[in-house]
Amino acid sequence: MSIELLHHHAALALAYVASVAAAGLGVAACDRPAKETSTSAAAEIESEPKRKVPLLVPGDETIPAGHAGELVRQGRLYATRTSEELPQLVGSDLHCTSCHLEAGTRGNAGPWVGLSSAYPMYRARAGREITLEERIDECFERSVNGKAPGKGSPVTRAFVAYIEWLSRDVPRGSEVLGRGFPRVERPPIVDPDNGRNVYAARCASCHGANGEGRRQADGSYQFPPLWGDRTFNIGAGMARLDTAAAFVRHDMPLGRPEPLTATDAYDVAAYFTEQPRPDYLPKSGDWPRGGKPPDARY
Ligand code: HEC
Ligand code: HEC
Repeated sequence: MSIELLHHHAALALAYVASVAAAGLGVAACDRPAKETSTSAAAEIESEPKRKVPLLVPGDETIPAGHAGELVRQGRLYATRTSEELPQLVGSDLHCTSCHLEAGTRGNAGPWVGLSSAYPMYRARAGREITLEERIDECFERSVNGKAPGKGSPVTRAFVAYIEWLSRDVPRGSEVLGRGFPRVERPPIVDPDNGRNVYAARCASCHGANGEGRRQADGSYQFPPLWGDRTFNIGAGMARLDTAAAFVRHDMPLGRPEPLTATDAYDVAAYFTEQPRPDYLPKSGDWPRGGKPPDARY
């Protein structure tokens, strides 16, 4: 990673400190532990305000030699070429890094830096504390509409090795700035009809008139699909309005010549999240102990 990019990250991080301070929010992750979990000791530790540290990405020269380093590189390859490398586990044309941008290193785009010390953590959607391995399984089942590789599998071990390497400089008990997809304020009225127009003007050139995405001439990955059979399913975090709006506001259109206003981000998120996409049958088991967020789709 270039120094310039690091500076860019640092600038984003500072901007984010300011926004966190302004909003009075402590945690940036999407599904924050629900209040009723404070009976669990681990949840209590989770709910303590964590020291915020800048998001810094280790240089490749710090990848260990030998088998340990091979596993880190394997994890990064799986993350950045998920549908091609793991077709048996993936039921979409997505990569993990279609959403966890820049190989899981970009702030405000679900960065993986620092996650090793954030897990295990309580998740209201699961109704219990889950491990990092389980969190990876969840994104396999929902976000790439596939199958869980499972704890101990070579695939999971590679992802964990990569995430641990990315997290090597983040002290335990702290949290990186720009974790998750920090929420933006929801406008009083959300209008999917305006969202359709925003989509046509600002998104369709890359993601296609029907959300189908676009491939390069040789058939390889270029712009991922937003709806239809080959994208994230209804159980994914990205199918939720607040999460999708946050992602769009912070990260799209990619390259960001001109970011969308919060209102346009919400309107376009309302439009594309409601389009047809694969179902997720086990969804009826979600939020077993309450804490369902208001923007849940089911
Ligand atoms: C369609 C977008 C999308 C794709 C593709 C995706 N994720 Fe995610 N991921 C999310 C969202 C959104 C969250 C935030 C939590 C939520 O709202 O459910 C998340 C959260 C995570 C987290 C926890 C982050 C934290 O701060 O605690 C991990 C780990 C993760 N994803 C791993 C993966 C892996 C591994 C893959 C590929 C197999 C993947 N994700 C693919 C959208 C995606
Ligand atoms: C310049 C091309 C471009 C434009 C314009 C653009 N995107 Fe994207 N978008 C991308 C690329 C490329 C990715 C995947 C990033 C990667 O793989 O590194 C992506 C990823 C996404 C994802 C997560 C992955 C998925 O397929 O679900 C969503 C959601 C998304 N874009 C929504 C939008 C919306 C909404 C707009 C319009 C406001 C938009 N994008 C405009 C290029 C673009």
